[in-house]
Amino acid sequence: MHQPSLFSDLTALETPEVTPFKTQLIKWVGNKQRYADQIIAHFPTSFGTYFEPFLGSAGVMANLAPPRALGSDVYGPLMEIWQCLAEDPERLISWYDERWTWFHAGDRQERYETIRSRFNAAPNGADLLFLCRACYGGVVRFRKKDGLMSTPLGSHPVVKPEKFARRVAMWRPRVAGARFEQLDYLDALECARTGDLVYCDPPYSHSQSILYGAQSFRLDRLLSAISDARDRGVYVALSIDGTKKSGNTYCDIPLPDGLFEEEHFVNIGRSMLRRFQMDGKTLEDEVVRDRLLLTYPSPKAAHEP
Ligand SMILES: C[S@@+](CC[C@H](N)C(=O)[O-])C[C@H]1O[C@@H](n2cnc3c(N)ncnc32)[C@H](O)[C@@H]1O
Repeated sequence: MHQPSLFSDLTALETPEVTPFKTQLIKWVGNKQRYADQIIAHFPTSFGTYFEPFLGSAGVMANLAPPRALGSDVYGPLMEIWQCLAEDPERLISWYDERWTWFHAGDRQERYETIRSRFNAAPNGADLLFLCRACYGGVVRFRKKDGLMSTPLGSHPVVKPEKFARRVAMWRPRVAGARFEQLDYLDALECARTGDLVYCDPPYSHSQSILYGAQSFRLDRLLSAISDARDRGVYVALSIDGTKKSGNTYCDIPLPDGLFEEEHFVNIGRSMLRRFQMDGKTLEDEVVRDRLLLTYPSPKAAHEP
């Protein structure tokens, strides 16, 4: 028997028309904000609660602006940022302002390293917020050997507190329907009920092993949890790396027969990680297309010729 949705007292809501919203609050590798409208176009036209269990920088959620949602990620300091935005946006602005002001009042290199050391000694959302905006390329990465955040200071101007405050004001209403929790995706998926929608954007197992605190990730576990959710009547959309020539093994993993009904491609531009590894140089041929797998028929496909 299907269990009721997390917010079962409310009826299913229509997917709103999505006008692309590209202003980023935080920088995070794998951010999908610029392509979110392409992804959302394949969401069901009507669903219950929206779940985003690999939330990262919430690029898709911010575009969807769901009336009710559970946003979660296994990385605690990141979830502190989202919880602070939801519960006390003024505090989030102060976190940023204090660090930005102190950083600019002395030797920036030294002060950046001080904030990074403090963060590494006691990981927390307030320092992560500043580090992700100030670090090189906005690529927060962690050393494999000890898990410490190692990205150096970037050479770009760090967004001013006034501008950051305006972004907070833009973002806050877009996530007003969401609850935020630090959760492993398996626990988040278990909360989804009939008619709910789950969008999964997991870490890419090989190319992203130095990112996101170097958590281990197994695609087969995720696929099995997706299968269970689908059997409960949950709609699931899964983004996975679609580049075949990168050597990413996702493309070689056979997907269980019948788990997904449709596959679409989303053009996500050039690979951020490659740009970072090549010290600012880009590869002309590194255009990346993500695969979007759906356990349900896409409403967009129905309208395509
Ligand atoms: C590709 S990123 C998601 C990017 C996101 N779509 C955005 O727009 O920023 C993958 C995320 O999965 C998270 N993650 C890794 N392992 C996880 C797990 N076991 N459970 C939940 N989240 C996990 C990482 O911390 C990271 O934020």
